[in-house]
Amino acid sequence: MSYPEDLRRLVDEHLETIRFSHGAGPDGADTTGLDGAMRYSLLAGGKRIRPVLCLATAKAIGLRPEDLLGAAAALEMVHTYSLVHDDLPAMDDDDLRRGQPTSHVKYGEAIAILAGDGLFAEAIGALSAVPASPDRVLEAVALLSAATGVEGMVGGQYIDVSAQKLDAEGLRHLHSLKTGRLIRASVEVPLALGGLDQEGREPYWRFASLVGLLFQIVDDILDVTGSDEELGKPHGSDERHGKVTYVSLYGLDQARSLAAETYDQALAALAGAGGQTEDLKRIADYIYLRQQ
Ligand code: IPE
Ligand code: IPE
Ligand code: MG
Ligand code: MG
Ligand code: MG
Repeated sequence: MSYPEDLRRLVDEHLETIRFSHGAGPDGADTTGLDGAMRYSLLAGGKRIRPVLCLATAKAIGLRPEDLLGAAAALEMVHTYSLVHDDLPAMDDDDLRRGQPTSHVKYGEAIAILAGDGLFAEAIGALSAVPASPDRVLEAVALLSAATGVEGMVGGQYIDVSAQKLDAEGLRHLHSLKTGRLIRASVEVPLALGGLDQEGREPYWRFASLVGLLFQIVDDILDVTGSDEELGKPHGSDERHGKVTYVSLYGLDQARSLAAETYDQALAALAGAGGQTEDLKRIADYIYLRQQ
């Protein structure tokens, strides 16, 4: 298992260069503090799975990863916004994220809410500025917005926090929205920017859906088996909040078997995709075997 560290480095270096605020104006009004809060969470050192998936997909279809850094950053900004809000007292009420105090612990709730809002809006701006033809950029923006919205991450979070009674199919649906859609978008956005036709996209699309599912099964397992240090976030959060998870529904052993099955299916889907898919396989390995 070797995660594509070269792509991760590209992402990290690019994120470091981003500034959101113009600083204090002559009238004294100043948004520098908000910029600080946004970059605090963005640069806290996540695994960068979504932007790395985006750049690896770009490579697979013959695009230059360097040209898609704005898209990669947009995906990480939406993801970071979702984490900042997910940790809020009104939601999971967690104090630790990416090994550091959560945004609301460090800056207070009001600023954490605004930092999340700001990251989402700035993500749309970053994706809009990617150097590609306007029709491709428009499709990419539509994909990101759909993956984030009511039939995407936010809808999944809604089902999650509204404590609906879920059977196995319901849990799969919840996960496919909450986590799956943004992971899938991380593959779909570069496919749209590269102008791939629908037939060419199909195997990538199936791979991305399965990797998204695998990711959340593993996240649920690690919530039970991992430590705060390994995870950089508090373990046992799901049980504390009575969340329906793959582990609560199936038990640990069966959740592990499901993860193994889903991993095999993801690789089978990837085998049907053309192009240089080695880095995508490495990411799938990492998501399956990760301990953090
Ligand atoms: C955690 O995502 C939140 C979920 C979607 C389950 P990651 O595990 O990708 O978090 P970071 O980005 O590495 O911090
Ligand atoms: C939240 O899922 C996923 C998001 C959309 C942020 P979790 O609540 O399981 O994420 P963690 O475990 O806190 O990272
Ligand atoms: Mg949550
Ligand atoms: Mg949470
Ligand atoms: Mg979790």
